[in-house]
Amino acid sequence: MNIFITGISRGLGKELAVHYSELGHKVFGFSRSLPEHPGGIAKKLYDSGNFGYYSGSVNSDSDIDAAVGEAIKFMGSIDALINNAAYKNFKMPDEITVEEYKESVQTNLTAPILICRKIIPHFIKNGKGKIINISSNAGLVSYEGGTAYCPPKAGLINYSQCLAKFLKNKNISVNVISPPTFSTDDYRRTRPDINHGKLLQSDKVIKLIDYLIFSRKFITGKNFPVFRLKTWLKYYYYRQFELLEYLFQFRLK
Ligand SMILES: NC(=O)c1ccc[n+]([C@@H]2O[C@H](COP(=O)([O-])OP(=O)(O)OC[C@H]3O[C@@H](n4cnc5c(N)ncnc54)[C@H](OP(=O)(O)O)[C@@H]3O)[C@@H](O)[C@H]2O)c1
Repeated sequence: MNIFITGISRGLGKELAVHYSELGHKVFGFSRSLPEHPGGIAKKLYDSGNFGYYSGSVNSDSDIDAAVGEAIKFMGSIDALINNAAYKNFKMPDEITVEEYKESVQTNLTAPILICRKIIPHFIKNGKGKIINISSNAGLVSYEGGTAYCPPKAGLINYSQCLAKFLKNKNISVNVISPPTFSTDDYRRTRPDINHGKLLQSDKVIKLIDYLIFSRKFITGKNFPVFRLKTWLKYYYYRQFELLEYLFQFRLK
């Protein structure tokens, strides 16, 4: 599998890149900087030989063109796209600047739309493809510090479901994942003051992405909140067959 991932310099994106390259898949990363701390988990990424990257911004049209071109050169083709890069700004509406609002909408919504737009012709040519957009439960709820982050994340859910309808007869799936706050290796390192045991762990998010990437079923147009039991009860109305199936498979492990 050849996997294109945005936002691989830290957090979930870095863990996804390490995870898939360790499994023997080819990974191409796209972010402004590269994973730091080469002595940590990023070392596995560089050592794997399965990892290529383009350093640039998802907010630049020319960087998107170059990154996708380089990815196809490095991997031969792209089988799956994970739009993970994000700009997280939770300032109050009376503190946030015009530029920060623009950057949030651009990075969290416009960029994934334009990256899909760039890669879809490649998927259509190949007769297959999987798109996984990482939204957030911030796209399903509202809070006072969420005026910059929540709307584009909500838009990303809606966009993914519209696009899925357009692509459903072309063997190209589009799904979106909307986790609550989760803990990653980097988050644990940079914020030791937080009780990370209370948070969802990134491996649960990765398991869900695995499920969507490797499932032989054609699953498309779904939004998957990543559940802890409390969240599952909150979103009980998402009782769809695929969701029950993926929860069930976690139970079996
Ligand atoms: N962490 C959570 O609790 C949580 C909860 C729900 C949903 N999510 C979603 O899960 C995903 C991963 O979250 P995370 O916490 O792991 O993120 P993170 O640690 O903040 O990392 C964000 C990544 O996005 C990249 N990025 C930001 N702006 C970019 C730009 N203009 N061009 C290219 N890359 C850019 C960053 O790389 P550079 O700065 O090097 O470019 C970085 O690699 C995001 O979509 C986030 O919204 C996170």
